[in-house]
Amino acid sequence: MMSMRKNIVAGNWKMNCDISQTYLLLDALKEQQISDDVSVIVAPPFTSLQSANQALLDTDILVAAQNMHQEATGAYTGEVSAAMLKSVGVDTVILGHSERRAIFLETNALLASKVNIALDNEMTVIFCFGEELKDRKAGTHFNVVKQQLQEGIFHIEKENWNNVILAYEPVWAIGTGETASPQQAQEMHGFVRNTLAEVFDTDVSEGVSIVYGGSVKPGNAKEIFSKEDVDGGLIGGAALNAADFMAIVNAFE
Ligand code: 13P
Repeated sequence: MMSMRKNIVAGNWKMNCDISQTYLLLDALKEQQISDDVSVIVAPPFTSLQSANQALLDTDILVAAQNMHQEATGAYTGEVSAAMLKSVGVDTVILGHSERRAIFLETNALLASKVNIALDNEMTVIFCFGEELKDRKAGTHFNVVKQQLQEGIFHIEKENWNNVILAYEPVWAIGTGETASPQQAQEMHGFVRNTLAEVFDTDVSEGVSIVYGGSVKPGNAKEIFSKEDVDGGLIGGAALNAADFMAIVNAFE
């Protein structure tokens, strides 16, 4: 059966790349071929978003923000709104990254309100979730993930799932060089898809792309992406090197 969901590879640049480094990396990405069956997204820091979007206008590469605020406007010093992102041509936002949860204390409830304002603004949300090492050791990883999804994003309307990408990022695999095995990734992605079918229906569960993040590299991407329920990757460190990122982009069979 042909799946209608897309293969996606997104690069989360985190707090890396000033404007000149942004142009250098984007120029290097633009030199490479991208196969037709994959959507490519890059998420530079806020200061590079407008320039990145303009630099990529003649390509199929999309630009995403790494975060945004949950209110529309007002006295929130240091924050950036959905409308501001849209005004510089950015329609996609990463929400719920484990670094936002752990370092900036973002809760599931807060993330639910960020998801709402993003979808109200017709943005696409890349919603991240994933257990910590202690959860996996305790065998509670499925429960932890289910709770993150239930409290963060399962409140949305069925129609809105067209504008959601899910990203499973086990915290113990981020920036550690230790990936989830392809089997561990598949097991969690399959669990999430089954849960979506129960809570919503199979249109939702079969339609949504679920990408894996955590130490994806050119050497392991092919095997991870070959798993039935893994629809691509959210890439950190390897997204800062054009050749590595593009090798991952082109790692689908
Ligand atoms: P690494 O690829 O550096 O492990 O980071 C993964 C990640 O956090 C992407 O959002």
